[in-house]
Amino acid sequence: MTDVLDLRSDTVTRPSAGMRAAMAAAEVGDDVLDGDPTTRGLEARVAELLGKEAALFFPSGTMANLAAVCVHTRPGAEVLLDADAHIVHWELGGVAAIAGVQVRPVRGDTPVMTAAQLHHAARPRGRYEVDLGLVCLENTHNGAGGMVTPLTELQALQSVARELGVPVHLDGARLWNAHVVTGTPLSAFAACADTVMVSFSKGLGAPVGAALAGSQAVIAQADRVRKRLGGGMRQSGVLAAAALHGLEQHLGALATDHAHARLLADALDGAGGARVVPPDTNIVMLDLPHACADEIVREARAIGVRCSAWSPTRLRFVTHRDVDGERLRAVLAALRSVVAQAAH
Ligand SMILES: Cc1ncc(COP(=O)(O)O)c(C=O)c1O
Repeated sequence: MTDVLDLRSDTVTRPSAGMRAAMAAAEVGDDVLDGDPTTRGLEARVAELLGKEAALFFPSGTMANLAAVCVHTRPGAEVLLDADAHIVHWELGGVAAIAGVQVRPVRGDTPVMTAAQLHHAARPRGRYEVDLGLVCLENTHNGAGGMVTPLTELQALQSVARELGVPVHLDGARLWNAHVVTGTPLSAFAACADTVMVSFSKGLGAPVGAALAGSQAVIAQADRVRKRLGGGMRQSGVLAAAALHGLEQHLGALATDHAHARLLADALDGAGGARVVPPDTNIVMLDLPHACADEIVREARAIGVRCSAWSPTRLRFVTHRDVDGERLRAVLAALRSVVAQAAH
């Protein structure tokens, strides 16, 4: 079905004609041998935007997160992070299997880990206490419905990590969205962390790719880890060109995704007693009064809308640049009926 409105993820976006043209025209070299010029250009641009000394192009955000954890920690160390972090749930335990670290999820009564909760979770250091190695943050927070952690809170989290004497890694797969919705400079967010991962294959619409930014020394180490993980890429400029195009041409348009998410949220809130988590950015979580998420996913498909069951009682809808606004508006009433019928 070609006219399906696919709201399962912002990763479903397909490269635009302009992006494909940029990929086709990319100047390339062997990035493992002596460097790919377009990849160098992307890395320099990302480092500049994030206010870091250096950046490194990765095939995926998962690999970039893992490389950051490998660089910052030693096996046996503990990593503190939000209980619903992407690293905890969706990266196949890579940080345990490959970096050899112990993850300790911090859970509180808020959707995203706060500085106070992080402070409370830290153990006193002692002869037989596990070594705390790293704090990981996520902004925007996928599992919390694209929620933005504002700059002041991010700074407070960084201060706690500093008191604990450990570095901070920021999973900023959707940091672009946080920047667009708040107007906070990317570099201000990035200054709250030693390393920052950003993704090109979500709202920016590139087919592949992420970058890790940090100091020269840390990125040089990450380069070795990337190669070890099998992430050395040859004529990667074809992919870097897509990422650069996304950065230059698609960043501002994320505001449209956010507006579409608000439309969706307004249309669905209250249907059959379901409640939306008011969206900060492009992800809409819908909490259902009973376990009917799978049924709604099936019924929505029948009216041409794809969404995901985040849990039996929670649905997730993600807006992105391939969402046609008119098509979205046209289907909202029918989608509300689907939810209302299943949820009542
Ligand atoms: C917050 C967050 N971090 C990391 C990733 C992993 O990125 P990738 O799919 O490029 O491995 C994702 C992917 O959805 C994500 O949402």
